[in-house]
Amino acid sequence: MKKILQVVVISCLLTSGLSASIFGEKITPNSANGATIWSDVCMRCHNLREPADLSKRAWKYSMQHMRVRAGLTEQETKDILAFIEESKTQEDGK
Ligand code: HEC
Repeated sequence: MKKILQVVVISCLLTSGLSASIFGEKITPNSANGATIWSDVCMRCHNLREPADLSKRAWKYSMQHMRVRAGLTEQETKDILAFIEESKTQEDGK
């Protein structure tokens, strides 16, 4: 019985979190703020990875990974991604 309750509570939490990010408040990425966080936070554990180091697609995955490691909010993650995408040039492709 306790198990079932746990499963129900967990799935409610998951769905509410999911719907909040799909239907919830719209997040407007702020790339200037992203640049600040990128230079402050992303070098705490390793050298800065330049926007050109990864493709846009790979950055999306990597930022989900680093979001957890660095303890970023969804807003901060989107700010950094906006900064990275804006900083990429035609030459570095993808
Ligand atoms: C809490 C420590 C920590 C913080 C903060 C952190 N990283 Fe990482 N990062 C790691 C570790 C550990 C790895 C895996 C080992 C490596 O490649 O150096 C990694 C790897 C990466 C990679 C290689 C690809 C990958 O996903 O494994 C990229 C790109 C990256 N980090 C970008 C960032 C960016 C951008 C930020 C700032 C938002 C950031 N990191 C903040 C710990 C951290």
